[in-house]
Amino acid sequence: MVRIPLDNPWGGTQKWALNFLFVAQGEVTMAFTDRVVVVTGSASGIGRATALGFSRQGTKVALWDRNASGLADTKSRIDSADGTAQVCELDITNQGQVNQTLDQVVRTWGKIDILVNAAGISQAGSTSRGSVLEVTEADWDQILDVNLMGTVFCAQAAARHMIPQRRGRIVNVASIAGAIPRWQTTAYCVSKAGVRMFTKCLALELARHSITVNAVAPGPTDTPMLGNASGEGGDPQLRERMIAGMPEIYRSGGWANRSIRPMLLFF
Ligand SMILES: NC(=O)c1ccc[n+]([C@@H]2O[C@H](COP(=O)([O-])OP(=O)(O)OC[C@H]3O[C@@H](n4cnc5c(N)ncnc54)[C@H](O)[C@@H]3O)[C@@H](O)[C@H]2O)c1
Repeated sequence: MVRIPLDNPWGGTQKWALNFLFVAQGEVTMAFTDRVVVVTGSASGIGRATALGFSRQGTKVALWDRNASGLADTKSRIDSADGTAQVCELDITNQGQVNQTLDQVVRTWGKIDILVNAAGISQAGSTSRGSVLEVTEADWDQILDVNLMGTVFCAQAAARHMIPQRRGRIVNVASIAGAIPRWQTTAYCVSKAGVRMFTKCLALELARHSITVNAVAPGPTDTPMLGNASGEGGDPQLRERMIAGMPEIYRSGGWANRSIRPMLLFF
C-alpha cells in the first residue's frame, strides 16, 4: 500500500483543467503490487510520467508507443529504479497490432489489470491548423485515427481480457479541449470530445463486469506535445502563452508529474 500526495494549489475546483473531477487536498491510498498495466504514449510526456509512477508502486508496466528511442529511455529509467517493464513498439491505429501486442503482454505476465490510454497527437504543425473550413480530409483522418480510434482499439483489446477476469480499470486521457471549443484546432477538439463520450459509453457497458472506465481531461501541460505547438505551421507564441498561464509548480512537466499522474493512478 502506498500513499500518493495530490496537489491542489488553487484550492477548490480547477474547472479550467479538470472537467470530470475535483481534486481534494490530501492523499489517496493505492495498492499496485502484482498488478499489470499497459500505458500507451509512454515514450513521452504524460504517458511516461504515468508509467514511471506505476513502476514506483511495484506495478509491471508494458510501455506502448511508436517512438522506439523514447520507449528505450523510459525503460532504462524504470530499470535503473529496479522496476519491471517491457517495451512494445506499435502504432495504436493498427488494430491487428494492438490485439497481438496485448495478447503478448498477457502471455508474458498472465493478465492485464489496468490500461491507460495516453497516446495522442495534437493538431499543431499539421496543415489542418487553421480555419475549420480548411481542414483537409487527411488531417481529419490522422487526428481521429490516433486520438479516438487508437483509444477505442486499445480499450476493446483490454476489455476482451478483463471481462473474463471480472476485474479491470481503463483510464483515457481526454482534454479540456474536448469540452470547451478551442480556436483553430477543430479536429483535435472533436477527437477529444469523442474520447469523453466513448469513455461514458464503455463505462456503462463494462460496469456489470466490475470494470471501471474513466477519463482525465488535462488543461495545457508542458510536455513535448505543447512544444510542438510552436513547430512548423504552428503558432510560435502558443507554448509561451500557455505556460505563462500555468502556476509555477506545474511548469517543466510539473503538472504531468504532480497532478495528472496521481489522478491516472487513482482511477
Ligand atoms: N500536453 C498537453 O497540453 C495536453 C493537454 C490535454 C491533453 N493532452 C493529451 O495527453 C496525452 C499525452 O500527451 P503528451 O502531452 O504527453 O504528448 P507527447 O507528445 O509528449 O506524448 C504523446 C505520445 O504518444 C505517442 N503516439 C502518438 N501517436 C501514436 C500512435 N499512433 N501509436 C503509438 N503511439 C503514439 C507519441 O509517440 C508520444 O510518445 C495525449 O492524448 C494528449 O492529447 C495533452
